Amino acid sequence: MSFPIERPRRLRRTETLRAMVRETWLRPSDFVLPLFVAPGKGTKNPVSSMPGVYQLSVDLAVKEAKLAHDLGVPSVILFGLPETKDAIGSSGWDAQGPVALAVRAMKEAMPSLVVMTDVCMCEYTDHGHCGKLTHARGEVVVDNDATLELLAKEALCHAQAGADIVAPSDMMDGRVAKIRKTLDESGFEDVAILSYAAKYASGFYGPFREAAESTPKSGDRRGYQMDPANVREALREVKLDLEEGADMVMVKPALSYLDVITRVRMSTDVPVAAYNVSGEYSMIKAAAQNGWLDETRVMLEVLTSIKRAGADMILTYHAIEAAKALGG
Ligand code: PBG
Repeated sequence: MSFPIERPRRLRRTETLRAMVRETWLRPSDFVLPLFVAPGKGTKNPVSSMPGVYQLSVDLAVKEAKLAHDLGVPSVILFGLPETKDAIGSSGWDAQGPVALAVRAMKEAMPSLVVMTDVCMCEYTDHGHCGKLTHARGEVVVDNDATLELLAKEALCHAQAGADIVAPSDMMDGRVAKIRKTLDESGFEDVAILSYAAKYASGFYGPFREAAESTPKSGDRRGYQMDPANVREALREVKLDLEEGADMVMVKPALSYLDVITRVRMSTDVPVAAYNVSGEYSMIKAAAQNGWLDETRVMLEVLTSIKRAGADMILTYHAIEAAKALGG
C-alpha cells in the first residue's frame, strides 16, 4: 500500500458533508403520477396487487391529482377504464369516456398541472391486445397499419379534451408520425408526444393489467413489445420515434433496464422518461408488508437509481408518498 492512502470516507463523515458531495437529488418535480380513471362518481376500487392504488372515478381522480400537485408533483398520466369494449377499442376515442372527462376536469381545476394521457388500445379492446387484430400466416396478430388509424383517433380525442402531452404505449411502427400528423392537421401543433420508445415485453406489467383490466385474452405482447435482451434495438426505436416527431422518449420498465436508460440518455438530447412500472411498485409493497424491507428507504433508493441512470422524469405509483418523504 502506498502512503498516504486514498480516503474517500473523509467526505462521508457527516450528513452535511454527504449532502455537499451528493451527485443526484430526487425532487417531487421529477415525478409523474399514473391514475386509473373509471366511470361513475365516488368510485374508489382498490387494486389488490397494488396496495395504495385505486381505480378512481373522475371526481376522485381529480382529488388525487390535486393532492399530488399540491406536493409539487407537476404531472399525471391517465389510463382509462371504459364502460364498453369491442374488437377495435372504439371507446378509446369517446369524448365522454373517463379519460377525456378527467382531462377536462383536471385542466379546469388545475391549469398548471401537466396532463398526459396513455394512448393505447389494450384498455379498450375486448381481446386486450394493443390494436386491431388480423390473421397472418395462420396466426392472429395485431394489424400495425390499421391500428395507427385508431391510435390517431384516440390521441386526437385526448388533445381535444385538453391533454398537454399524449403518450403512445402500443409499440406499433409509425405511430408517432401518424399521431403527429393527425394532431397538426387538427390544430394541435402544441400538444407534445412522449413516446414509449423502448417498451419491453415485461413480466413486471402484471399488476397494471389487473388495474387497467387489460390482460390479453390469448397470446402475449411479444410480437410488438421489445425483447428484454436487447439494448441496441432500444436505441434504434428511440431514433425512429425522434425522426417521426417525438418530443420526449420513454424507457419502460425502469429497474431492470437502468442500462437502457443510460444508453438512451447518452444517445439523445431530448428529455428521457422512465416508467417505474406496476410490478416494481408491488414488489416493494409486498416486501414491506412482510416487514422484510424498509419501504420508504427502498422506494427512495430505487427512484434515485432511476434518476442517476439518466432519467429526467419518472412515472411512478410512489409519486405521492415519495413527494411526502422528500418533504414536498
Ligand atoms: C398499455 C400500457 C401498459 C403499461 C402502460 N401502458 C401495459 C402493457 O403494455 O401491458 C404498464 C404499466 C405498468 O405496469 O405500470 N399498453
